Amino acid sequence: MKVLIISAHPEADSFNLFLASRAARVFEKQGSLVQTVNLYSENFEPCEGQNFYPDRQDPQRFDALLEQRHHWEMHNLPDDVVRHIELLKSADLLLLHFPFWWFGMPAILKGWMDRVFVYGGIYDSKHRHENGIMKGKRALLTVTAGAPANACGHNGRHGDMRFLLWPSIHALHYIGYSMLEPYLIHGVRGGLDGLAKEKQQQFLDQKVKDFESRLININDWPIIPFNKEEDFNEDKTLKPHSPEYSPFVRHNPGNWKADPI
Ligand SMILES: Cc1cc2nc3c(=O)[nH]c(=O)nc-3n(C[C@H](O)[C@H](O)[C@H](O)COP(=O)(O)O)c2cc1C
Repeated sequence: MKVLIISAHPEADSFNLFLASRAARVFEKQGSLVQTVNLYSENFEPCEGQNFYPDRQDPQRFDALLEQRHHWEMHNLPDDVVRHIELLKSADLLLLHFPFWWFGMPAILKGWMDRVFVYGGIYDSKHRHENGIMKGKRALLTVTAGAPANACGHNGRHGDMRFLLWPSIHALHYIGYSMLEPYLIHGVRGGLDGLAKEKQQQFLDQKVKDFESRLININDWPIIPFNKEEDFNEDKTLKPHSPEYSPFVRHNPGNWKADPI
């Protein structure tokens, strides 16, 4: 198996990157070919913009989708984007490791998606969801959070973290990945002393062991179900008897429907 680990953490000594290194070790031991990228170490430029497109299809007005597709077709994408696309295409399993920052992924990782998931190359209207370019590949998010588990649960003060990650999970599924249930580690806090620090270390050591043993049996890892094309009407709304897998795509707007403007 070929494994690609993309991490987004600015500190080499972080728990987050430690977990990424342990994941690499697990798969290497199993004989997999592992490639690792830390977006911070390579100073990845996350801001999509016109500076990346030297030979514009529309020189007057910058249209990111248009220029992504044009430069893909002309084989004129930036070197870093080309390299990352090749890495993605060659890997069977993608692991994304990142800390939970402001209820989502760090900006560098979101920007990586903006620039690397190129329209026309990585997806288009015929290649999305279960027909996506990355069909047959699996992806796993491993995310650390400072807040304790209770605060990130379904009735927690910070909102249900599993749902807050849905946009990232959906984006990867959109380009074809089968998405594994994310691995979340809550209560990862710095600045502790004495007994609190010791307890924290024990908790983290336990988590590392748990994570490693789950990775060893990655084929048993639960996969997140998504609706398929056949579940939707022509107008892209859910058919009446289609299954409902998430509160983001549901039959009954219930109490959550926003007031129309
Ligand atoms: C900019 C920033 C935003 C953060 N936002 C959140 C957040 O929304 N929810 C949360 O639980 N923790 C938040 N944290 C805490 C980090 O998730 C936590 O420090 C990190 O996951 C710990 O892992 P590490 O030791 O590997 O960095 C934030 C930290 C930073 C620096």
